[in-house]
Amino acid sequence: MATAATYLLLFSLVLLLTSPLVAASSSTPVAAVEQPEELLQRFKASLKDPSDALSTWSPSTPYCNWSHVTCTGGGAVGLSLQGLGLSGDIAAEPLCRVPGLAALSLASNTFNQTIPLQLSRCTSLVSLNLSSAAFWGPLPEQLAMLPSLTSLDLSGNDIEGQVPPGLAALRGLEVLDLGGNRLSGVLHPALFGNLTGLHFLDLSKNQFLESELPPELGEMGGLRWLFLQGSGFTGAIPETLLQLEQLEVLDLSMNSLTGALPPAFGHKFRKLLSLDLSQNDFSGPFPKEIDKCVMLQRFQVQGNGFTGELPAGLWSLPDLRMIRAENNRFSGRLPELSTEASRLEQVQVDNNSFSGEIPHSIGLVRTMYRFSASLNQLNGSLPDSLCDSPAMSIINVSLNSLSGAIPEFRRCKRLVSLSLSGNALTGPIPASLGGLPVLTYIDVSSNSLTGGIPAELQNLKLALLNVSNNQLTGRVPPSLVSGALPAVFLEGNPGLCGPGLPNDCDAPLRKHQGLALAATVASFVTGVMLLALGAFAVCRRLHGVSSSPSPWMLVLFYPIKLTGDELLAALRDKNVIGRGALGSVYLIELQDGQNIAVKRLISSGKPTFRALKNEMKLLAKIRHKNIAKMLGFCYSEGEVCIIYEYLQMGSLQDLICAPKFTVGWNDRLRIALGIAQGLVYIHHDYTPRLLHRDLKSSNVLLGDDFEPKVTGFAIDRAVGEKAYLASLASDLNYRCYIAPELNCTKKPTHLMDVYSFGVILLELITGKPAEQPASDDSVDIVRWVRRRINVTDGAAQILDPAISRTAQQGMQAALELALRCTSVMPDRRPAMDEVVWSLQLLYSPQTPPSTGVALEP
Ligand SMILES: *[C@@H]1O[C@H](CO)[C@@H](O)[C@H](O)[C@H]1NC(C)=O
Ligand SMILES: *[C@@H]1O[C@H](CO)[C@@H](O)[C@H](O)[C@H]1NC(C)=O
Ligand SMILES: *[C@@H]1O[C@H](CO)[C@@H](O)[C@H](O)[C@H]1NC(C)=O
Ligand SMILES: *[C@@H]1O[C@H](CO)[C@@H](O)[C@H](O)[C@H]1NC(C)=O
Ligand SMILES: *[C@@H]1O[C@H](CO)[C@@H](O)[C@H](O)[C@H]1NC(C)=O
Ligand SMILES: *[C@@H]1O[C@H](CO)[C@@H](O)[C@H](O)[C@H]1NC(C)=O
Ligand SMILES: *[C@@H]1O[C@H](CO)[C@@H](O)[C@H](O)[C@H]1NC(C)=O
Ligand SMILES: *[C@@H]1O[C@H](CO)[C@@H](O)[C@H](O)[C@H]1NC(C)=O
Ligand SMILES: *[C@@H]1O[C@H](CO)[C@@H](O)[C@H](O)[C@H]1NC(C)=O
Ligand SMILES: *[C@@H]1O[C@H](CO)[C@@H](O)[C@H](O)[C@H]1NC(C)=O
Repeated sequence: MATAATYLLLFSLVLLLTSPLVAASSSTPVAAVEQPEELLQRFKASLKDPSDALSTWSPSTPYCNWSHVTCTGGGAVGLSLQGLGLSGDIAAEPLCRVPGLAALSLASNTFNQTIPLQLSRCTSLVSLNLSSAAFWGPLPEQLAMLPSLTSLDLSGNDIEGQVPPGLAALRGLEVLDLGGNRLSGVLHPALFGNLTGLHFLDLSKNQFLESELPPELGEMGGLRWLFLQGSGFTGAIPETLLQLEQLEVLDLSMNSLTGALPPAFGHKFRKLLSLDLSQNDFSGPFPKEIDKCVMLQRFQVQGNGFTGELPAGLWSLPDLRMIRAENNRFSGRLPELSTEASRLEQVQVDNNSFSGEIPHSIGLVRTMYRFSASLNQLNGSLPDSLCDSPAMSIINVSLNSLSGAIPEFRRCKRLVSLSLSGNALTGPIPASLGGLPVLTYIDVSSNSLTGGIPAELQNLKLALLNVSNNQLTGRVPPSLVSGALPAVFLEGNPGLCGPGLPNDCDAPLRKHQGLALAATVASFVTGVMLLALGAFAVCRRLHGVSSSPSPWMLVLFYPIKLTGDELLAALRDKNVIGRGALGSVYLIELQDGQNIAVKRLISSGKPTFRALKNEMKLLAKIRHKNIAKMLGFCYSEGEVCIIYEYLQMGSLQDLICAPKFTVGWNDRLRIALGIAQGLVYIHHDYTPRLLHRDLKSSNVLLGDDFEPKVTGFAIDRAVGEKAYLASLASDLNYRCYIAPELNCTKKPTHLMDVYSFGVILLELITGKPAEQPASDDSVDIVRWVRRRINVTDGAAQILDPAISRTAQQGMQAALELALRCTSVMPDRRPAMDEVVWSLQLLYSPQTPPSTGVALEP
């Protein structure tokens, strides 16, 4: 990019050149005397500005003093009107007569119109940014009449049709971003052949483009960022691409590219930081020249048909953080790494044909965070050092031919997930696993493990323990199976005994209860879902309504003691704990003292039973310590009740609204972190990916030690999108949790959940409920906080005074995070995994800072 100085120069030049033009073109005498203030007033008058963001634009002050207007010494004027909630008409005619107008941003607004052709009269424009502003229709060729343009950003709109070849006339263009639109057709070679000054080219996410990669790409010698992912490109990579010596980021992922890579691929990419060729149809071996990319940090080639070895030189690149090569046909051995020099954080090579042993050095690389190599032909034993990296969180080497014993895992205190299933491992399950504080997922099924299940595992907060199909013996530690809703899978170990198992260690079976418990266990055994077991009751129609026989069907995914009759009898007003537009929530105590919450959805479209069952199954399969279990559902011709687990301590909202909310800062952080982790799981790690869409503090349940569980998620799947949106529109109660863009976009995104999370974080920071943070003013918490941020010393008024001053620094940091999450502009919000990293740093400041790579499933 040009430096500030060159821009200045450019701006002044532009001014010199264009002022006479402006004067000449405005030939009517009246217009000739119009001041910039008047022109801008007329421009403003055509806009809709509901939040009054342009209130400082008053004729009595010089326009250079107005907000969102910048004037540089050289006489260049910039208008930065992004993210102000603007809509209405864009009066380009007066606007383009403002002398020296060099930069115009209307990004992140909701104009809902075509790109005004008249903008082509703003001949002094150097930079035009219309991204994410709800523009639709064709890309006007007239924009090519802006002779000084160096940066054109039209990304994230609904622009359709061809990219006009005439744009090639913009010889000075350095940045061209057309990503995320609905452009179609074939790209004209002139676009690439003539725009030789480009540094940044983004044509990604235009799924209707039909093009090969044109050889002319190679003529854009200055290109540093090239984003062509997800745009329907076909054919092979042209040899000329290899000439782009300045490339830093090359993303060709998610296209239909084919063929082998040119053998010299990489030999001139000395500056390449990130290479993404994933999800294409490339084949053949991967060129060895990749070792010339000495600055490479991210290497992603997963989901192709590459064969042969991964070049040895790749593994020793000094800055490499990530290797993703899963779902290919690579073979050969995984090399040892230089444990001193390697900065690898993530190695994913699952589903290939790698053979030989797991390198001993994997766990010795101190930054290693994730190692997954499942579904290969790795043999030999697990290295003793596999878990020595202090950052190691995920290990998956299932479905290989590994043998020998499971080593003691003591050092990887951040290990979350360990999958060793489907190998030939022998010996006992090491008791030391019980000492890894965040281990939540253990799958050692289908091996030849012997001995007992270590009692130490009871220390863990497990989301899944699968030991099935081994030769384990002895008594199952009681608390592993006693919880009402365990996630422990024991089948295929005839030597195990304990209450509820076919083989009770001491007492003979008590007939009745024994059966129930056996059924319970059998249900775990059959896998996640109990459906087949027939935990399936037909209940009567709701009390007193009508006599027409309309059967209610109850489907339970977990063994809870509840019959259909009991459920219907309990759906009474006295059990209601919450009401919303979609229906009421009932709290029901079961015979065994366990509590469940039942969400009864009214006027919920008319899903068929079968469709609903499939959706519900999907939700019931979610296993995460921070996601409340969906226990079952009840159905009758379009009316649906969903049954969730409920925790004794109630919801976060209850806690915040209690007369005294005195929970300490570290516990509040713990709540926030848990919620965030649950969301990361459903957003990124669960298949299919889900959105919560109704996150609010009343949907956060609290367990012991303030461990939160998120509930009420993905209701849209039960009721259908239409009914769901209608309910959101009619429910005035929880509006403050809803991201503002919901009004203008139809497609829900994970960033809307991030917004809702930000609102909860603000509740935790301020100690005030989101709906009405103060008794005197009726604004919601986001506005309440924003108002106070502006006044000097505002933060002191925001942070909950009930919390000791020593926590202030952390609270301040959390506040900044919450403000980012609740940013009006979705693209300013962090993704949930980034939120987790940030919160983890606050929660345990003594742990080393994260290595920066987000968890990417
Ligand atoms: C405009 O801004 C300048 C510099 O910031 C200041 O000196 C001047 O007083 C301002 N004028 C008005 C009318 O506010
Ligand atoms: C256009 O504006 C958006 C929103 O402010 C910003 O994220 C983006 O970087 C801008 N584009 C360019 C090329 O500067
Ligand atoms: C592209 O450049 C060639 C010469 O370099 C020129 O003849 C042609 O008109 C240009 N195309 C456009 C669309 O400007
Ligand atoms: C393994 O990778 C191939 C592509 O190479 C893919 O078709 C297949 O579905 C993958 N298998 C699994 C289990 O992911
Ligand atoms: C481990 O790998 C197997 C096979 O690729 C996969 O099915 C399983 O989901 C993975 N486990 C985890 C926890 O990611
Ligand atoms: C692992 O497999 C390779 C062949 O892929 C074989 O040569 C080697 O002996 C095997 N090692 C062990 C320990 O089985
Ligand atoms: C547990 O392991 C067995 C054997 O590998 C497998 O069939 C079953 O699906 C697993 N259960 C869960 C819930 O992962
Ligand atoms: C969304 O639209 C509703 C009316 O449809 C309005 O009451 C509400 O204020 C709007 N929300 C935002 C954030 O603009
Ligand atoms: C855009 O405008 C059209 C009418 O021109 C209207 O039907 C549509 O609802 C608007 N879309 C949005 C998101 O406001
Ligand atoms: C707070 O300050 C920002 C800029 O500093 C301004 O854009 C915003 O309008 C102010 N908000 C209020 C409520 O005063």
